[in-house]
Amino acid sequence: MNNDNIKRNIFWQYNSITRKKREIKNKHKSIAIWFTGLSGSGKSTIANHLENILFKNSINTYLLDGDNIRSGLCSDLTFSEIDRNENIRRIGEIVKMMLDAGIITLISVISPYRKQREMICNILGGKKNYLEIFVNTPISICESRDPKKLYKKAREGKILDFTGVQSVYEIPDNPSLILNGTYSLEENSKKIINILYENNIIFFN
Ligand code: ADX
Repeated sequence: MNNDNIKRNIFWQYNSITRKKREIKNKHKSIAIWFTGLSGSGKSTIANHLENILFKNSINTYLLDGDNIRSGLCSDLTFSEIDRNENIRRIGEIVKMMLDAGIITLISVISPYRKQREMICNILGGKKNYLEIFVNTPISICESRDPKKLYKKAREGKILDFTGVQSVYEIPDNPSLILNGTYSLEENSKKIINILYENNIIFFN
């Protein structure tokens, strides 16, 4: 138990249904598939497409989407650097529970800072539990898509800290995979599925 918990009289409870037992029951392992990239890059669309394929193959999945999380759990947070860090930290703690629950979690969040993504990798126990997928779509394309009309608002000064316009996006140094968000959903999903097979997360029947 860590010192902080001892000081606060908090005692970690070990449950008898473990991650290992759940993974055996599920016939696949759990992992976090973390999609990072600009707004409009295609993160959520790819994650949704991939989840459909996994779901149809009887894999236990859950998709956590930034906009949805910010509608509830993180509705108290802004887009300042401090709040974005807190947003990502909370998501990381949820994903940690999802890993323990034996689930393949797909997470679609901008997560613009390298330090945040390092923090997540650490919270989740390292690269064996964390696949970082960089959806590398040029900002000109994200902006031309502008499905939520947020780039337009940012250019007009109606949003002040929009990622890619007034707020930085730090390109991942060493992601597990780089996807081009203009390629087909089938092609992009296939690349991730191959990684899941190669790492024995899912198995051929
Ligand atoms: S993050 O930076 O904290 O990782 P997150 O993925 O949760 O961001 O939320 C991003 C979503 O919030 C975007 O898809 C967009 O719809 C919305 N949004 C609203 N304001 C901003 C902003 N200033 N910067 C980026 N996204 C914003």
